[in-house]
Amino acid sequence: MRVVVSAASKHGSTAEIAAAIANRLREAGFTADVVEPGEIDGAGDFEAAVIGSAVYAGHWMPVAKEMVRTHSSRLLEVPVWLFSSGPVGEPPKPEEDPVDAVEMIELADPVEHRVFAGKIDPAKVGFAEKAIIKALRAPVGDYREWNVIEAWTDEIAAALQKEWLTSDA
Ligand SMILES: Cc1cc2nc3c(=O)[nH]c(=O)nc-3n(C[C@H](O)[C@H](O)[C@H](O)COP(=O)(O)O)c2cc1C
Repeated sequence: MRVVVSAASKHGSTAEIAAAIANRLREAGFTADVVEPGEIDGAGDFEAAVIGSAVYAGHWMPVAKEMVRTHSSRLLEVPVWLFSSGPVGEPPKPEEDPVDAVEMIELADPVEHRVFAGKIDPAKVGFAEKAIIKALRAPVGDYREWNVIEAWTDEIAAALQKEWLTSDA
């Protein structure tokens, strides 16, 4: 069973989450390929998809939204898991409604949409972003919880395994 993992990332931390998810799915025995959101057209066949985006100003990045909008009918044919990576700090903030993913959820009808804590690397953000971070008093640092991401991936693997066995029966 081939799983496509695709995530929009501005500064790389969400792309690292996508890579970790794909690695773990491979360890669980699946063919898992990371595909850039803009390149899903040429990604070939897949039987499941894990799609995510970094969150900026409460929304998914345009390239990820575009991908889900364009490929909605294909995504509706397979099990899909969505994730957003955004909130920073301890506890991660914003705590409530860190992302408006309503449209993405409607278009992809995912098994689940998960919000993961993110990372702000002061060395990578530009002037304008620095001003926003300051205004929001958002703490810089790496708040990604790899154990939480791994556990979620294991849930995906278990669900796919079940579906795989059932469809082979
Ligand atoms: C300018 C700016 C705006 C952000 N806005 C939000 C937001 O609205 N909600 C949120 O949860 N995280 C927000 N974040 C945090 C990012 O989503 C987080 O840093 C994420 O891990 C970045 O992923 P990337 O490295 O893949 O681009 C913002 C970060 C920056 C720099």
